[in-house]
Amino acid sequence: MGKTALSERVAGILLAGGSGTRMRPLTKDRNKHLLPVGMRPMIDYALGTLLGAGLSDILVVTGRSHMGQVVDVLGSGRDYGDGVAFTYRVQDEARGIADALALARDFSAGRRLCVLLADNVFDCDRLRPAIEAFAASEEAYALNFLAEVEDARAYGVARLEGDRVVEILEKPDEPPSNLAVTGLYCYPIDAFDKVDQLDPSARGELEISDLNNAYAREGRLQHERVAGWFDAGEPEPWMRTQRYVQEHPTRFGDDRFRLRP
Ligand code: G1P
Repeated sequence: MGKTALSERVAGILLAGGSGTRMRPLTKDRNKHLLPVGMRPMIDYALGTLLGAGLSDILVVTGRSHMGQVVDVLGSGRDYGDGVAFTYRVQDEARGIADALALARDFSAGRRLCVLLADNVFDCDRLRPAIEAFAASEEAYALNFLAEVEDARAYGVARLEGDRVVEILEKPDEPPSNLAVTGLYCYPIDAFDKVDQLDPSARGELEISDLNNAYAREGRLQHERVAGWFDAGEPEPWMRTQRYVQEHPTRFGDDRFRLRP
């Protein structure tokens, strides 16, 4: 079986790099995205999100010391459905999400991009229609998925004027809204040129929020509000995600982790 129709137009990109410092000591000897959530490795949930949207052709990016473990767990893609194919690329140093995205240029082969951070767990039915609409649109826009949170200071936060996102602030002390930018992003192909023009932030990384702001400045950043979002990449939220998954077994059945063409 070849690529799904959606994968002909959109490249799936799963980012599983980073050094996992916030999850030490659990991440001393293993990639954060392989830690368990319920009865599965965390990365399976993010993969399930991409596969559930109909993306069968997925680039997995991780760090050099973790690539072996990640390939051991995921394999070729075969276990996740007919026609599922994983391609792997190494990010030599943890230089940020936008830097990891830049590694997808050849893989994308002119397709639009759907990028997901591998520690993000979604229980939300609104993603697939939004990604399909993004793929089908004549307009080449970037798309962020926003979730309401109690304390937005740990995230990229949207500043809105009316219903338009005009700016994303990365981990602001005083959030302009309670709408966090989740780790799922869609971009047109000019994202790579925009990443080339980014400067490293104060923490020495190419920030995904700076890429989103490049689109916001051009009036090309759209958004979709979502519920059922969990960022499992830090201790307390990780445990909260575990509880949610355990309490909602029917939402996380085996079919959730396979391609939905
Ligand atoms: C990253 C992004 C942030 C976003 C978050 C979602 O933060 O920089 O804008 O809200 O992912 O998971 P990080 O988890 O790398 O601190």
